[in-house]
Amino acid sequence: MTKGKVWEPHRAMSNLHLQQDWPEPVVRVQSLSDSGISKIPDRYVKPITDRPSSVAPNDLPGGQAVNIPIIDLGLGRDEVLAKVAEACREWGFFQAVNHGVNPELMDRAREVWREFFHMPMELKQSYANNPKTYEGYGSRLGVEKGAVLDWSDYYFLHYLPTSLKDHNKWPALPSSCREVIEEYAKQVVALAGEVMKILSLNLGLKEDYLQNAFGGDDGVGACLRINFYPKCPQPDLTLGLSPHSDPGGMTLLLPDSHVAGLQVRKNGCWITVKPAPHAFIINIGDQIQVLSNAIYKSVEHRVIVNPNDERVSLAFFYNPKSDIPIEPAKELVTADRPALYAPMTFDQYRLYIRTMGPRGKSQVESLTSDKGCDGA
Ligand code: OGA
Ligand code: NI
Repeated sequence: MTKGKVWEPHRAMSNLHLQQDWPEPVVRVQSLSDSGISKIPDRYVKPITDRPSSVAPNDLPGGQAVNIPIIDLGLGRDEVLAKVAEACREWGFFQAVNHGVNPELMDRAREVWREFFHMPMELKQSYANNPKTYEGYGSRLGVEKGAVLDWSDYYFLHYLPTSLKDHNKWPALPSSCREVIEEYAKQVVALAGEVMKILSLNLGLKEDYLQNAFGGDDGVGACLRINFYPKCPQPDLTLGLSPHSDPGGMTLLLPDSHVAGLQVRKNGCWITVKPAPHAFIINIGDQIQVLSNAIYKSVEHRVIVNPNDERVSLAFFYNPKSDIPIEPAKELVTADRPALYAPMTFDQYRLYIRTMGPRGKSQVESLTSDKGCDGA
């Protein structure tokens, strides 16, 4: 496909290697927050242009507020397909209600994790993660020394493939944690499979196209990142999570039930998502952008924090099998619309965010900088 032409982003990425440990001593943001400081340390202070502005672009004249579309997945098939297609084109994001995941289970999952983050630090530290696998309790994304950090801690774990699932790397406490995650993940995987079908059909592909491209039922990857955003005394100077697109296939986010924070980029503005009760916030990741040959685009998003409330969110990442090449669907490559991306495995792809940290859409955009991998 590349006809021997050197494709620089590929090469650059194959030079990324993850080190064994973090470049600087790890500071838990929750500990900083709990210490009662009134000023945040410099390393969380963003450059002026990256800070959240206090203007709320959501509020239109007349008091209406813009929000990402809310879609009832229980409607008729055609209607669901049409609504999801429009949301994917317009936003790259939607909220799903009537999605089949048990609402009480959603609440239990969120609350068991909130409880985990309020366990003694010593216990949480026993799950401290490292940049090699990211599994466990973490406080930064990226390994660049001296980087400006985000105001959040997290926990990262694997659910699929089964070979990567290791209960010993999941918290043993609260005592119901592992059981709740198991059931939650099972139900969310079923929902993800349904959405994959909807996306495939909307792209004019066979219903099982995307799932097969991801490696099939026994191949797909699924992992969970629980984000914990502690209260922040100077929320205007920092971010809970810097702008990024999700590197994987698709993300199903369970947001906090009463604290907003997620912002989605739309026409250059940051729109704050208002979560609907028991909805999942679903968005397209870079791998579906690649597979769809950019008919669907992953969308940048970020998280703001606030002085009064902590916030917990569960991001469930549904990903391709890590070692198969992902490239535009042949059906979506034409003379008028050549393949915009060369094949790359997800293992290789995700090294970028794991090394450089969240950086907007710079990775997926760098791949198309010469408008096609033949460079012709
Ligand atoms: C993520 C993410 C948003 C949130 O984990 O990738 O974008 O609201 N989270 O926590
Ligand atoms: Ni994200």
